[in-house]
Amino acid sequence: MSEPLLKTRIHRIEYAAEDVLTFDLRPPGGDLLPPFTAGAHIDVHMPQGVARSYSLLNHAQERHRYLIGIKREAAGRGGSAWMHDAAKVGALIDISAPRNNFTLVEDAAHSVLVAGGIGITPMWCMVQSLAALGRPWTLHFRARSRSSAPLLHELAQPGIAEHVHLGFSDEGAGRRLDWTRLVAQAPEGSHFYCCGPNAMIEAFEGACADVPPERVHVEHFAAKQAAAVEGGFAVRLARSGHELTVEPGQSILESLRACGVVVPSSCQQGVCGACETRVLAGRPDHRDLVLSQAEKDSGKTMMICCSGSHSKELVLDI
Ligand code: FES
Repeated sequence: MSEPLLKTRIHRIEYAAEDVLTFDLRPPGGDLLPPFTAGAHIDVHMPQGVARSYSLLNHAQERHRYLIGIKREAAGRGGSAWMHDAAKVGALIDISAPRNNFTLVEDAAHSVLVAGGIGITPMWCMVQSLAALGRPWTLHFRARSRSSAPLLHELAQPGIAEHVHLGFSDEGAGRRLDWTRLVAQAPEGSHFYCCGPNAMIEAFEGACADVPPERVHVEHFAAKQAAAVEGGFAVRLARSGHELTVEPGQSILESLRACGVVVPSSCQQGVCGACETRVLAGRPDHRDLVLSQAEKDSGKTMMICCSGSHSKELVLDI
């Protein structure tokens, strides 16, 4: 069963930084969009049949539009290039409802936000929520250069700028984060958030190793681990009674598609959560970056785009 999509119109496209455009998506009839919370993302379904996930960056109280920032990824799989080159103002485009794997804990004693490059987009949404709620926060934003960093104008506003620490690779001094200090000097009970390249997230997770996991939150752009495509196990679909074998070289998602079973998906690398599926029996081999360790250990759900099976059979709630 695939999730229902929302039709939106591309109301505005704006230059935000080198290789970064923002897209303002609105319902064609002027209706209200489903609500979202800070840290949420949507999947944009492009006409060529690909879907990609992008964080919402506008204020979470807005219901008339979704605002996303898209960086053209030279080494990407073509989704960002299509949005940069082919998407036009006035065109209709399908999106998913918002989903949140990177939820802001609004009543935390303090929030420490760390962003790298385009990873600033969910953080700007969080900053607006925290500022509106009057909660204490600090943002550390690192980028290659000022010209490549989106949202600098917004971050320079009075009431915001005092909480923001910027660093740019091409300016040398101050570009490196002092991770140990960042964690050690954070007020007691702080929650820590990071969105950026995998190298930044690894350094962040290392620095937060002694922080209780429920206070450490990350959002990945890309997979860290290869997908499980060893195959050689059976998948039974509990609702339809259908049974299939996942062959070597295939993911569960690919096997389902080959049999004509349509299930929601977007990133296909275990970072967006679109393909999360309930597991009724069997032991998944988790390879995603969405589920927490406790969720993985429970084995109740799995991301079928990248995860495989440790057991001979998996029974899925499909
Ligand atoms: Fe994104 Fe599976 S499609 S996690």
